[in-house]
Amino acid sequence: MENVSAWPYRKLCVGTTDSYTGMLSMDYLIRRTKAWKEVDTYEINGQRQWLQVATVKEKEIGEFLGRLKRELGENPEKNHLYGIQLNASCPSPEVIKLGQGSALVKRPTKVVNLINELLKQDEYKVGIKLRLGLNEEEVRQKKILSTLEELQKIDNPNFTNVTIHFKHARDPSYAAYNYFLLKEIASFKLPLILNGGIKSYADFERITKNIPNRKNIQGYMIARGALENPDCFKDYRRGDGKILPIRKLEDIGKEYEMYCNEHMPKSIYLTKTKKYCSWFPASLEIPETAKDEGKRSFY
Ligand SMILES: Cc1cc2nc3c(=O)[nH]c(=O)nc-3n(C[C@H](O)[C@H](O)[C@H](O)COP(=O)(O)O)c2cc1C
Repeated sequence: MENVSAWPYRKLCVGTTDSYTGMLSMDYLIRRTKAWKEVDTYEINGQRQWLQVATVKEKEIGEFLGRLKRELGENPEKNHLYGIQLNASCPSPEVIKLGQGSALVKRPTKVVNLINELLKQDEYKVGIKLRLGLNEEEVRQKKILSTLEELQKIDNPNFTNVTIHFKHARDPSYAAYNYFLLKEIASFKLPLILNGGIKSYADFERITKNIPNRKNIQGYMIARGALENPDCFKDYRRGDGKILPIRKLEDIGKEYEMYCNEHMPKSIYLTKTKKYCSWFPASLEIPETAKDEGKRSFY
């Protein structure tokens, strides 16, 4: 989650198999050295960490991959990146105007080209996060299905993650989730992760129980539920029979502060986390945002 899921927050989310940085503009990563502070992939035991990027330009990707290699080579303590996820879901008009985020949903060829460029390395897995479309009309026309059809043709074992946020970009955040396309989406042989309105394993079970091709659905992603309670992943059945202990929200706050002291994120991450998370510790002071740290939010 943009300006929230820095390393201290991701580390709090015990029980999740995968975690993601917020969306970072590829252009920003290529041009600004300071952008790499947000690529804080220090080790987190038991978690596969993904870097989420936004771009619409194939030609940026080679440069980005070169820079990524250099940055992680020069900072071996951050060399715990598992995968790179392309954002095709951001609803911000500014991002859409650039042809990025959810503007990509209806562009199967472009999407496949971008993914193939990201796959021109074999150190990191590659994935994509899509919305159902840009607006209601695109959902009605089932634009996403053509893109999934093309993605299905990618024959590369490093393409391991197709996350779908079951809303279109014009849906307000309070709109109810509509999984009516799930049956059709699940018929694609793709490693699907479902997202939207899920707060627990029970929610995931309820949404998927009558889906015939459930084997294509590999898991679920929780966002707002994890802001409320980072322990929400602990009911995920990993098959190891272990029940993970649940923490008091106050203890979660203390742990967060401890992790921040280990790897302090930019101030904006603290400000946003405080805004969204009731457990944010009162004792954690937020340094005044330095001018050069100014960063916009698209979510
Ligand atoms: C504060 C905040 C920041 C977010 N930032 C991102 C982001 O950077 N990239 C992204 O793909 N989705 C982002 N999202 C959207 C969530 O990942 C997720 O798709 C959406 O909230 C629906 O899932 P939920 O019902 O579990 O919250 C953000 C959501 C919130 C609330």
